[in-house]
Amino acid sequence: MTALLSIILAAGEGTRMRSATPKVLHPIGGLPMVSHAIRAAQSAGSSSVAVVIGPGHEAVRAAVTAAVPGASVFVQTERLGTGHAVKQAREAFEAISGNVIVLYADTPLVTAATVAAITAKLDAGADIVVVGFEPDDPTGYGRLLTEGDRLVAIREHKEASEAERRIGLVNSGIMGFRSGVLQAVIERIDNKNSKGEFYLTDAVEIANADKRKIEYTVADAREVIGVDDRGKLAKAEMQFQELRRDDFMKAGVTLRDPASIYFSYDTEIGRDVTIFPNVVFGPGVKIGDGVEIRAFCDIEAVTIGAGATIGPFARIRGGAELGANVHLGNFVEVKKSRIGAGTKAGHLSYLGDAVIGENTNIGAGTITCNYDGVNKDTTIIGSNVFIGSNTSLVAPVSVGDGAYTASGSVITDDVPADAVAFGRARQENKPGYAPKLKEKALARKAAKQKGKA
Ligand code: UD1
Repeated sequence: MTALLSIILAAGEGTRMRSATPKVLHPIGGLPMVSHAIRAAQSAGSSSVAVVIGPGHEAVRAAVTAAVPGASVFVQTERLGTGHAVKQAREAFEAISGNVIVLYADTPLVTAATVAAITAKLDAGADIVVVGFEPDDPTGYGRLLTEGDRLVAIREHKEASEAERRIGLVNSGIMGFRSGVLQAVIERIDNKNSKGEFYLTDAVEIANADKRKIEYTVADAREVIGVDDRGKLAKAEMQFQELRRDDFMKAGVTLRDPASIYFSYDTEIGRDVTIFPNVVFGPGVKIGDGVEIRAFCDIEAVTIGAGATIGPFARIRGGAELGANVHLGNFVEVKKSRIGAGTKAGHLSYLGDAVIGENTNIGAGTITCNYDGVNKDTTIIGSNVFIGSNTSLVAPVSVGDGAYTASGSVITDDVPADAVAFGRARQENKPGYAPKLKEKALARKAAKQKGKA
């Protein structure tokens, strides 16, 4: 396989985001934009990744090296244009004999298929391949000047003639080069233009003068949306969500009201899953076959076993594992807990740092008291247990298989298997006392009124 280097440009200042966070770290579908570009590069088979960052953007460097430990990161100290940005990664593209793809970190929805389409053309003999698209309004973009399959030049908006500005096909910024061609042209790009920048796009005309073979492909405009402000960020998020919803429905998932369901970049869902309206998935969710998620749930970092039913109004987070046919009902929160197959928590509970066996019933209002203000402790509940309504389990504590806890109990000591634990004051009935109590109350009210008069 031909070696493939992806150079991801991320040195833009992102001033229009008006943010303390570098633009490319703003997330789409829960993943920073720069990581989306890295994922596309990797899924298309990149053997190496280089990222060009702006000065002081150490947080971007950290995100990149966390995602790809072997990535090379280059700092572009002055923002002198896309050609200059690519030049900063010289060490990376001089070390490679194969293909080089240039991606923008602020164009996060690019698919691996588009990257693969570029490399296929390069492998078939093209020297440069540019990804174009047709936006509703081409103003501001570089126009593609074509002759049949050939790309003659890219004319930046500011340099374009009136006739050239009427061209609707524009440069997305994503380009592929044979590494030798990039090396041959990059130093010849100058900054003699209206912006005084080194335009990477000038590589096309330079390579054409060398009689190189330059081609283009056309991508769906939704895929190459660039993000430069919060409006575009929201638009990119919506497009990402639309694509995810379509993918899941094609894969056999029923979405009752697709537009109200939000996925994460890594959500995994089995077949015949039904998701009701207004459900939000954070990162790290894997859902088995036949699961039903009812309305208004917020779910992240959990593996949900086949046949489980969740919600309405459930919240799951912090790393959880739910076995097959688990049922979590309304207003149940589960944090970092393992719950065995067939266990039910139907109403109003908090289960945090718990390990619960199979076919256990967690009564309404059960709370695991997992935090003493300093430490988080574990509650262990066995299989076939019946936790009575409004039980507080003060961790660390365990309840053995087959045990019961009486409703309203505060369980502070371990409960052995098959025991019934009463952790509440014993009830006392006083026969005939109610009317006397009422008389007393009426007398107190009368005395108060007299005092006011
Ligand atoms: C660029 C293209 C244009 C294309 C458009 C698509 C050039 C000269 N023009 O325009 O043909 O239609 O993208 O959006 O390439 N960057 C750096 N360092 C720099 C300059 C840019 O890292 O010195 C990065 C930015 O972070 C961004 C990308 O390169 O991710 C494009 O920069 P931007 O200023 O948005 O591109 P334009 O010049 O508008």
